[in-house]
Order: sequence, then structure tokens, then C-alpha cells
Amino acid sequence: MTGVSKIVVLGAGNIGGSLAQRLAEADLAEEVTLFDIVEGLPEGKALDIQESAPILEFSTRVRGSTSLDAIAGADIVIETAGLARKPGMSRSDLLTKNAGILRGHAEAVRAKAPGAIVVVVTNPVDVMTFYFREISGFAPARVFGESGTLDTARFRTFVADALHVSPRDVTGFVLGTHGDTMVPVLSLTNVSGVPLTKLLPADRLDAIVDRTRKGGGEIVNLLKTGSAYYAPTASQAELVRAIARDQHRLLPVTAHLNGEFGEKGVYVGVPVVLGRQGVERVVEVDLTPAERAAFQTSVRAVREDLAILAQMPK
Ligand code: LAC
Repeated sequence: MTGVSKIVVLGAGNIGGSLAQRLAEADLAEEVTLFDIVEGLPEGKALDIQESAPILEFSTRVRGSTSLDAIAGADIVIETAGLARKPGMSRSDLLTKNAGILRGHAEAVRAKAPGAIVVVVTNPVDVMTFYFREISGFAPARVFGESGTLDTARFRTFVADALHVSPRDVTGFVLGTHGDTMVPVLSLTNVSGVPLTKLLPADRLDAIVDRTRKGGGEIVNLLKTGSAYYAPTASQAELVRAIARDQHRLLPVTAHLNGEFGEKGVYVGVPVVLGRQGVERVVEVDLTPAERAAFQTSVRAVREDLAILAQMPK
């Protein structure tokens, strides 16, 4: 079953290429277009993916382009473009450089795909999502960021390993920012209904929380050149599927808050219901006092980054 007519992936690096492959293989759209400014890169990856169609039996057409005109008519846009942090580069350098890249894309999406739903994955994702929304002028429900499903997938993996159970039976949320202050919510994590806090002692839980928070860094340290993309693109594809197939999934995404969780005017990871119109609603969940305090710390970290963004020349 085809979900939508056109999905555009901005950026054809490891994330963009792997995501285009996952989306094509899932047959979520009539067309998946991969965009990058590097001549030949999006076209080459697109053709390579397309040539797997006879074997993998998908119908999606996969195209590559170095022109932002390729955005025209997109139903869903995933923003993956941007630099990764290099040695000697500060967090604010990364933030302002990536904002510079996203500005042109957000303007192009506003002009060429005014009905699109946008998923931002460029880091620092909470701030980049805020910025993309601002430049596009789109309703906040139509622009959100991905990191919660990835951080939650890592968390579920580590819990499953510790308990020797299938990761599919572990459910829960990692909320807050995609960074050191993210909040794996132990009180809402369970294994087929059994509360996690009854299954593992506090020191084991603390170790899992710590490993989850450093999950992206653990992969970077192993790879040495570059960051994760298999689990990130699996997470992104899950969100795109929820939109394309109007599934009303309850998932953690980087969403705009307008008073929910006691916060306003900020994008941060919270549970939402996701469907063809984007974020249908934010789902306010009960957190323990300690989790609530950790969530507030996380939001403060995002607001510090938003202050850097606000100082950028317009
Ligand atoms: C990670 C980076 C990609 O968490 O944000 O792996």
C-alpha cells in the first residue's frame, strides 16, 4: 500500500542515504527524492537504491537531485543536512553553521511544499527544529524533530539486554533534549506490563540511564569518523510511516510546547500522537518529582541553545 505521493530527504550523507533506502523498501510513497549539494552524491545513491527494487520488490521511484526545486510537491520532508561536530568546534559554532544550512531549506520548503509535514533530525535537534519551524512559518504541529524514538530504542535495547528479554516487549519513553540531560523515564517503562523498577535494582537502572544518555557518543567513539545512522534512520522511518499511513502512533518526538509540561515557546522531546496531519496532540504524562526536575533541567539546556540562536544575525 502506498501512503503518500512524495517524500523528500534533504542531505544524502550516511543518514540521508540509509533513510532513503528504508523508506523506499517500506513502499511508503510513490516517490522518494534525495537532495544534496554535492554533485553526483544524491543521484548516485538514489540510482543504487532504485536498482535494488527488482529484488526487494518495492514500487517507490527513487530520484536524486542537487536542486532545491526537487522539494516541489513534497508531502513529507526530512531534514538531515548539516555538519557533525569536528574537533575544536564549539557547540555554538555547530549550531550557527547548521542553522545557516537549514535556513535555505526551510525557505525552499515554505515556497515549494507549503502543505508538507517536516521532520528535522539535524543536530542540535531541539534547536534546529525550533529554527526550521520559525523560518518556514508553518503551524508547529507540522514541524517536529526526531530523537526520542532513537534514544528510546537505545534505552529499550539496554533494558532488554539486562533482562534477557526481547526488546520488542520493553516499552517506555526517553523525554527531554537529545543530549546529556535527556530523561529516560523509568516510572513509565515496563516489560509487557511489568514495571521495570520491579525487575532491576537501582544501580543497574542508573547504569542503563547513563549509557542511554551517552548512546550517541558511544557509537562516535567506536566509529571514530562519523556518528550513528542505522538506529537513527530506523527511528526516522518509524515516524515517517506513522505520518504516511496516518497511524496515530503515540511516540516521543521533539514537539512544540505551548504550556504542556509547564513549558512554553520551546521544542523538546515529549510523547505525542502522530498522524497524517503531523503532531495531533501532546500527551502529558505523570512524572515522578525527580523525573519532572530532570525534565526541567533538560528544557533549560535547550533554552540556553535557543539564546545562542537568538543572537545570530537575521
Ligand atoms: C546520535 C546522533 C546522531 O544520537 O545524534 O547518534
